[in-house]
Amino acid sequence: ELPPIEKAKRDAAYACAKKHVYPGCKLGVGSGSTVKYLVEYLEHAYKAGSLNDLVCVPTSFMTKKWLVDSGLPVSDLDITPVLDVCIDGADEVDADLTCIKGGGGCLAREKIVQHASKKFLVIADHTKEAVSLGDRYQYLPIEVLPFASTPVCLEIPRLFGGTAGLRMAAKKAGPVITDNGSYIVDWVFPKQKKMDWKAIQTKLADTPGIVDTGLFIDVVDEVFFAYADGSVKTVV
Ligand code: A5P
Repeated sequence: ELPPIEKAKRDAAYACAKKHVYPGCKLGVGSGSTVKYLVEYLEHAYKAGSLNDLVCVPTSFMTKKWLVDSGLPVSDLDITPVLDVCIDGADEVDADLTCIKGGGGCLAREKIVQHASKKFLVIADHTKEAVSLGDRYQYLPIEVLPFASTPVCLEIPRLFGGTAGLRMAAKKAGPVITDNGSYIVDWVFPKQKKMDWKAIQTKLADTPGIVDTGLFIDVVDEVFFAYADGSVKTVV
């Protein structure tokens, strides 16, 4: 028996895949522990013959390994540059379906694969559901070129308040290195009622050295929130 939170992640992933993944689908596959259950679903369905000609484009090293280990067909954006659907997890989703992502450090590739997809769907357990970003999760991951990391860490709090620091690796003396060879800056933003996330995204994306942020704004088509009682709510 899975613990309730794991069951909720699985329920969200399965409900979304059942509704949106079909034979021949060119599918962007996100990253993180919820997406692990998506890969599990895809493996079963593919091996049972109900997802023939599926093509999967992973958003991270880890997801690619999961897909390969599951015997699923893997492609990339050079071979498959246009995707039908992309399914990914999130760290927090607000009432406008704006998401913070990047807890696993994969935000830049996740955003590139999302942008290549006609449809973007988010799978999440109930702990990710918020009214405003910061209700539950109070930092925004930002991918930055190593050369720019110190000025960026100084500039973000100067512009918007809060604190910003390099994400450090758990089992090595040094920073986390992303799949793109960059660093992650985690910005602990101030607890304000209304942040203008669009303006913040524009400003950050304009800052030299910033590759991208974990903000996903106006791109989500449907969210699948799963609850401890086994129910799944979809929000469009
Ligand atoms: C990875 O960088 C993230 O964007 C993940 O999608 C996000 O952190 C959700 O992960 P979990 O499903 O593990 O909570």
